[in-house]
Amino acid sequence: MALLEIDNVSVHYGIQRGTVKAVEKVTLKLDRGETLGLVGESGCGKTTAAYAITRLLPDNGDIVEGTITFDGTVIAGSEEEMALSPRKRKKFVENTMVDFRWDEVAMIFQSAMNAFNPVFKVGDQIAEAIRAHDDITKQEARKRVLELFKLVGLDSERIDGYPHEYSGGMRQRGMIAMALACNPKLIIADEPTTALDVIMQDRVLAEIRDLQRKLGMAMIIITHDISVVAEVAEKIGIMYAGRIFEYGDIDAVFERPANPYAMGLLASFPSIIGEKKPLYSIPGSPPDLANPPSGCKFHPRCKYAKEICKDQEPETIEVEPNHFSLCHFALELFNGQLKEVR
Ligand SMILES: Nc1ncnc2c1ncn2[C@@H]1O[C@H](COP(=O)(O)OP(=O)(O)OP(=O)(O)O)[C@@H](O)[C@H]1O
Ligand SMILES: [Mg+2]
Repeated sequence: MALLEIDNVSVHYGIQRGTVKAVEKVTLKLDRGETLGLVGESGCGKTTAAYAITRLLPDNGDIVEGTITFDGTVIAGSEEEMALSPRKRKKFVENTMVDFRWDEVAMIFQSAMNAFNPVFKVGDQIAEAIRAHDDITKQEARKRVLELFKLVGLDSERIDGYPHEYSGGMRQRGMIAMALACNPKLIIADEPTTALDVIMQDRVLAEIRDLQRKLGMAMIIITHDISVVAEVAEKIGIMYAGRIFEYGDIDAVFERPANPYAMGLLASFPSIIGEKKPLYSIPGSPPDLANPPSGCKFHPRCKYAKEICKDQEPETIEVEPNHFSLCHFALELFNGQLKEVR
């Protein structure tokens, strides 16, 4: 049984001028100990997908279809939940998710810089999180925080420091310690290093990877940066306009992508292996998700687009075992038989 199964999940936000379809029909699977990299341009729905899993969507956000199953338990979209009115559903989610967050799934937030409460000491905040889940004394919790500090490379003297006394990198490490506090089975790291300088980025990333392997946790790492995914993940999901455009093992997707958007995104990053090539940039910009284009949402930017792409949304095609692409011409692309039309 997979640790996490996301099946056909769509998330909508209600706004004044209509509905933002931020995540659409997303299907993903993650095994124990496995790492998935979720990439895509800004606004394609990565954070929304993470918030759907942790059930932390803001009040105007709702999972409108699909189910999420974690370790055998349906945590979103169960019959019991869907039978309730939207208001009662929020309450239901709050009640059922309390023990689940941090304990089973922990999240390192995109804005980790501000994730700590400024008026409490960092060590106390982590100790509180532990004590909320484990019935242990304050002293025991403090001991555990010290162990965590050591694990993430924070000086033990910092335990009584306030968030503003921490540098950016230290706060990020503090956030990682917080995420590890309850030994979760899954960590979702949303852009865990973008606010850091490159050297610190590398260090923090290496640390996250080490810890994750050592502790056997599964991880979803969300990032704009494909080279980060190449470094840490076994699987990759490439999102565009709320949908997964390509998904599979990293080697399979990097070596033989089967989707025009994925190909464009891969070509826009320097190759880690292989020859030097000029970098490509995908023309145009992502659509407004409150008013997306018809057919395939990528068609206005796609250099292979044909009539059908304007009219009809494509289905996801499995081009080889466990390698999926959302494109009318996925198989032709995979087999190198498709010609550019512009
Ligand atoms: N609370 C909200 N209300 C309305 N729309 C929202 C809300 N939060 C996000 N959105 C919209 O949903 C879409 C997906 O946003 P999301 O934050 O999930 O993207 P992202 O891929 O994480 O982007 P980034 O890489 O910039 O973090 C965007 O169009 C965004 O404007
Ligand atoms: Mg985001």
